[in-house]
Amino acid sequence: MAKKAKYKRVLLKMSGEALAGEGYGISNEIITQIAKDVAEAVDLGVELGVVIGGGNIFRGVAAAANGMDRASSDYMGMLATCINSLAIQDAFEKIGLETRVQTAIEMAEIAEPYIRRKAIRHLEKGRVVIFGAGTGNPYFTTDTAAALRAMEINAEVIMKATKVDGIFDKDPALHKDAKKFEEINYIQVLNGGLKVMDSTAISLCMDNRLPILTFNMTVPGNIARAISGDPIGTIVK
Ligand code: GTP
Repeated sequence: MAKKAKYKRVLLKMSGEALAGEGYGISNEIITQIAKDVAEAVDLGVELGVVIGGGNIFRGVAAAANGMDRASSDYMGMLATCINSLAIQDAFEKIGLETRVQTAIEMAEIAEPYIRRKAIRHLEKGRVVIFGAGTGNPYFTTDTAAALRAMEINAEVIMKATKVDGIFDKDPALHKDAKKFEEINYIQVLNGGLKVMDSTAISLCMDNRLPILTFNMTVPGNIARAISGDPIGTIVK
């Protein structure tokens, strides 16, 4: 039997670093693979919102640590997410997906401004909506933006795509016996300092009972597996 989406509407959060591969910037090969994976997921019948980070181009937190004014560096990071949003829009449309980019900071010549009701309408029409420029505010991460947008569009789950298979009790890169959790709760994540998302994002999800599925997106086909409800990754609820 053909697979179907387990969820009606999902917010997918991808890291900017994932686009870079080994280097800096945007790897054409990687975004093409991501587009294929997203198309496979959309074919299952899910409505998909996407938030992408900007760390492959500019990391606001790192620049602030080096002495730059935090608000300025965060704004630069937000602009980086817009560059990535346009890059993935291009890759998605090349393989036939319908998309819209909406940005939290207005740049109407480049993309639509973020309008919640319009975003929902696009989703209902089967378009992948890519949300750029984070929340539009400094001091908030793109994880928090993803949590916020997920809530606003009434997504059933936020899927955090990473380079690891899920959440482990210790660093799997350093410890061979690290154990992966299938399910864990928000408080365990917060108290354990487990690096799933920052504490603002986790708290927002917890307060609004939004589950977070974290999984490895570097395995081709995993986005569709997650959307169809295959038991991959770790779910925080
Ligand atoms: P529906 O008519 O509701 O199906 O949505 P639509 O997005 O197709 O209609 P609309 O006329 O709003 O948009 C047509 C095209 O213009 C789409 O590619 C939009 O992304 C784009 N567009 C709409 N508003 C803006 C804007 O403020 N800035 C930019 N740059 N593009 C926009």
